[in-house]
Amino acid sequence: MTSVDVPYAVSRRASAIRAAEIRELLKLLDRPGMISFAGGIPDPSLFDLERFRTAYEFALAENGNALQYSTSEGYPPLRRWLARRMSQPGVDCTEGNILVTHGSQQGLDLIGKLFLDPRSALITEASTYLGALQSISACEQDFMTLRFRDGLAETNATAAGLIYLVPDFANPTGRTMTLDERGAALELAHRTGAVLVEDATYTDLRYEGERIPATAGLDVAACGSIGAARTLYCGTFSKTLSPGLREVWICGPATLIRRLTMIKQAGDHHTATINQQVLHRIAETGFDATVDQARAAYASRRNATLDALRRHAPVGV
Ligand SMILES: Cc1ncc(COP(=O)(O)O)c(C=O)c1O
Repeated sequence: MTSVDVPYAVSRRASAIRAAEIRELLKLLDRPGMISFAGGIPDPSLFDLERFRTAYEFALAENGNALQYSTSEGYPPLRRWLARRMSQPGVDCTEGNILVTHGSQQGLDLIGKLFLDPRSALITEASTYLGALQSISACEQDFMTLRFRDGLAETNATAAGLIYLVPDFANPTGRTMTLDERGAALELAHRTGAVLVEDATYTDLRYEGERIPATAGLDVAACGSIGAARTLYCGTFSKTLSPGLREVWICGPATLIRRLTMIKQAGDHHTATINQQVLHRIAETGFDATVDQARAAYASRRNATLDALRRHAPVGV
């Protein structure tokens, strides 16, 4: 990562944070003729502007609450909607298991603060989402590498604070973890005492084939209830509805959600009230249809890209 020189005596914690390579990569987007595969940037033509406009008008028509402070856990109707939605990854939960955060970056920052002391182990795959590494790096943790071989999880770590995984369509590898690998990751979490962070950013954007059960769902099923589970499921509306609204949720045991909420409260009180209300309205009035549209649009581009690579790229690409 790029280092930033500051001629002042800054804290050790701040020195551990480096400029994000992703932002550097995204700058390339401005070059004429550049088609960049570097970032997961949604196509703006898929943003349903009319529905957003109507939803903002609806939120503002309701006696000013949308412009008021609100609760740190998140807008209760949105949290109830999300709790119902968590039945898809097989997690039986209530709004007490949901915290709304300002983007995945904030969610990961809160999780790092809750579980990692300096020198605690963070277990990740060798290539993983740079934004997650950047957000967590302020904790001054040690990175430990995880490799999957024949469905087994291999790492040198014997104890750890966190395991971070992107089980579906991982960034940057595009890889999806098998059912066995998910089981092995859970077993590793229970064995090392770590909490497993399941970053489900791309889970809804499956173009074909059967969904593989979420690690969080497997964990809850094995433990008997979400209260005994060790997985924090991180979902986002960034790739399906809008990244600019920064609406993200963490689902996990209520005791952990309460601790994460206290840390969030110390940082920013709550996620923007009006954006949560707008998101809730859009989610309630046709989330699945919007996701279906995005899926179809991106799948056809994926097919066109693969076709072009087959025809034009050198053999072996
Ligand atoms: C794996 C992964 N997690 C999280 C994010 C960021 O999501 P958000 O916009 O919710 O912060 C990205 C964005 O590219 C990503 O690839």
